[in-house]
Amino acid sequence: MAGTPDRPKAPETYTYEATATNACAAAAYDDAERLTREELRALQLERLRATLRHAYDQVPFHRASFDKAGVRPEDCRTLADLAHFPFTCKDDLRAGYPFGMFAVPESAVRRIHASSGTTGRPTVVGYTEHDLSVWADVVARSLRAAGARPGHKVHVAYGYGLFTGGLGAHYGAERLGCTVIPASGGMTARQVQLIHDFRPEIIMVTPSYMLTLLDEFERQGIDPRTTSLQVGVFGAEPWTEEMRREIEERMDIHAVDIYGLSEVMGPGVAQECVETKDGLHVWEDHFFPEVVDPVTGAVLPDGAEGELVFTSLTKEAMPVVRYRTRDLTRLLPGTARPAFRRMAKVTGRCDDMIILRGVNLFPAQIEEIVLRTPGIAPHFQLRLTREARLDELTVRAEARPDATAEQRTAAVDRIARAVKDGIGVTVAVEIVAPETLERSVGKIKRIVDLRDA
Ligand code: DLL
Repeated sequence: MAGTPDRPKAPETYTYEATATNACAAAAYDDAERLTREELRALQLERLRATLRHAYDQVPFHRASFDKAGVRPEDCRTLADLAHFPFTCKDDLRAGYPFGMFAVPESAVRRIHASSGTTGRPTVVGYTEHDLSVWADVVARSLRAAGARPGHKVHVAYGYGLFTGGLGAHYGAERLGCTVIPASGGMTARQVQLIHDFRPEIIMVTPSYMLTLLDEFERQGIDPRTTSLQVGVFGAEPWTEEMRREIEERMDIHAVDIYGLSEVMGPGVAQECVETKDGLHVWEDHFFPEVVDPVTGAVLPDGAEGELVFTSLTKEAMPVVRYRTRDLTRLLPGTARPAFRRMAKVTGRCDDMIILRGVNLFPAQIEEIVLRTPGIAPHFQLRLTREARLDELTVRAEARPDATAEQRTAAVDRIARAVKDGIGVTVAVEIVAPETLERSVGKIKRIVDLRDA
């Protein structure tokens, strides 16, 4: 089974000959990964002080917000002093649209990305040549931690364009010395054909789009366990251990988590190591993490769950100071890369939290339950409606094509009971026919809010 060290497709068995030009990339670790925790912390402090100075001197927004909070860059004498500095949130970036947060002249910006901006103005981010190089380095490091090696083929099915997924993955894979197949998102049937014909070892894609691809393999009569793929590097949206098991078993690959956000860089801010699969090592030499209470903003001790906050340590074009990600997680001690703390798998975004009759609920909790239900496919949707001023939640889950009538009936009760017992709230459950729910081609949208409809 996927995940056991002796299975034939495990990355440990990869054959790869190091040459003079790729020896560095082929090594198991780069220099920063060999630092001790103390050395890393010293490097962080030096870089943090330089970043605060750069942000204060070059970006009017940061200067005004530091002044308002009564702090100056030189007040940061220890890493803990960062807690005295003001937060930056998405609205601050939006207010600076388009280039107000840039800390370098526009002519020094080599690339621009932007969030899709479903509501209001998009958030714009910029990169200097050096920023792009650091980004490629951290994605290369992430891919290596995922089990990729120079010479591997990497099928990139994250979208290319203003979204950071495609290009971020692309240049990182090239930096590692891999062969990139820049498939981007969409045209699912063709993706399956490309994977079948080009025989990549690695795929980078959102976990929800991986499920779409899996269904397409089966539709084309190809057993997904027989493909050349050995590792899937999945991110850009929350996914659970149950989803890992589903994908690993159906595809016979290792499934590992990659995290990032455009405001901080893009993919490659944190990465799970294939040998431990125990959460994501944050590349703390470039991104300083804090976890804060989402309501009070107080810094929480490592191990406590709260909102993840990042300060960039090396970014030139657009340094971020205490950027509130809205993502909920915990910081844990390093394991496979001892100097780097890990973040637990993201439970959800503050924005995606459903408050149903006073009970907080995240789509990931429903994902766990749905994936444990016999006869039910890993496709579900959460539909919010309002009846007589009371919010109702309906879990719509899809039956597997081979589900029996008994399984479908039993699933309604089983899911409703698991939600009631585990989360403490009553929901309606509807099991729909196979192939009914809309499929993902990128980031999936789980919540359909019809309350104001
Ligand atoms: O999603 C960057 C990315 C691309 C990461 C490809 C990984 C792979 P944004 O579009 O700015 O950037 O969205 C960032 O996506 O704040 C999280 O809410 C969510 N997210 C990203 N990675 C993960 C993950 C990219 N591994 C937002 N687990 C973040 C859970 C994730 N959520």
